[in-house]
Amino acid sequence: MTQLLVLSSDDIARTFTIADAIDAVEDAYVQKAKGTGVAWPMVYEAFTPGEADMDIRSGELAGSGLFGLKLTAWFGANPQRGLPEIFGTVLLCDDRTGEPLALVNGSALTGMRTGAAGALGIAHLARADARTLLVCGAGHQAAFQIAATLILRPEIAKVMVWDPRHATAPLARVEQIGAQVARLLADAGASSETHIEAVADGKAAVGAADAIVTVTPATEPFIEADWVRPGTHLSCVGADMPGKQEIASDLAAAARLFCDDRAQSISSGEFEVPIAHGAFAAERIVEIGEVIAGTAPGRTSESDITVFDTSGIAVQDLASAKTAYDRAIDAGLGTTVNL
Ligand SMILES: NC(=O)c1ccc[n+]([C@@H]2O[C@H](COP(=O)([O-])OP(=O)(O)OC[C@H]3O[C@@H](n4cnc5c(N)ncnc54)[C@H](O)[C@@H]3O)[C@@H](O)[C@H]2O)c1
Repeated sequence: MTQLLVLSSDDIARTFTIADAIDAVEDAYVQKAKGTGVAWPMVYEAFTPGEADMDIRSGELAGSGLFGLKLTAWFGANPQRGLPEIFGTVLLCDDRTGEPLALVNGSALTGMRTGAAGALGIAHLARADARTLLVCGAGHQAAFQIAATLILRPEIAKVMVWDPRHATAPLARVEQIGAQVARLLADAGASSETHIEAVADGKAAVGAADAIVTVTPATEPFIEADWVRPGTHLSCVGADMPGKQEIASDLAAAARLFCDDRAQSISSGEFEVPIAHGAFAAERIVEIGEVIAGTAPGRTSESDITVFDTSGIAVQDLASAKTAYDRAIDAGLGTTVNL
């Protein structure tokens, strides 16, 4: 009989940290570059546009013996029902037999694996002397981006948080974000003294930053090309659906371009809109796994502007869920269900 291990958010909290997410996502990117990791086309369905939708991201990680999927359901009215807006559920299957192995609370993994992705962009593409990080967006994802970046680039001396929509909102949020960053780091056995501050002048902050993470649902770009200094790196995380765009098309056109998955980046990521408008050719975009694996160049000069678009692919979730699954088996955690 097939035994399926069910892992709850509590099980994830006991078995998985943001440092594990960094290792898992980096491995997934390298497997993708080597051909053992594959992202299959996303399925998206809006039940009621702007109110409720779902997407299924799936793929294979042959190097880890897995295939599977993450189903993300967004129901905007759920908070009024006392429910979370978003449910993420990961299904892991054995790629030799097809047998389902684990059903994992994907919401508990998503922030960590997404923070890992943005931070890996910074780790591999920002200048070695980068010291100032700007995070644009003060929502749920912000702390994960900061914590993962501080693990990979502990020399970052200042973190600024700017909310392009509500310029003064991060003032109230920054303490909360700082506490969450400290918790994520502590869970991973790390700590940081780096100062985190709220900023209201986005243009000035962009001009002062060495590395920038954008993590908002914007559909109108909020970073202009002439705000950005030569040598800056940008990890664009927010655009994960068609129509979203966070940075100006001419900024991307003038930069060296990287992504997690080219097909998804140009169909539903940060580069979808500029490519549709003819700002640059898709052939210019390099997958970051190739940079990490050493088969493609990353930054080539101190003055390059580099842009990494992570629109989020299943192999990130599969690799993360696999780590949690292995740990849970070792620790006897989770609930086994006979299917
Ligand atoms: N790439 C991935 O793998 C991945 C994973 C998870 C979430 N996301 C995306 O990241 C984005 C942020 O997620 P979150 O959970 O932090 O959201 P959130 O709603 O918690 O926070 C969003 C932040 O962006 C600001 N904002 C809202 N609308 C804006 C606009 N039109 N222009 C500029 N700023 C705006 C908000 O004020 C807030 O600071 C979403 O688009 C989400 O879909 C991507």
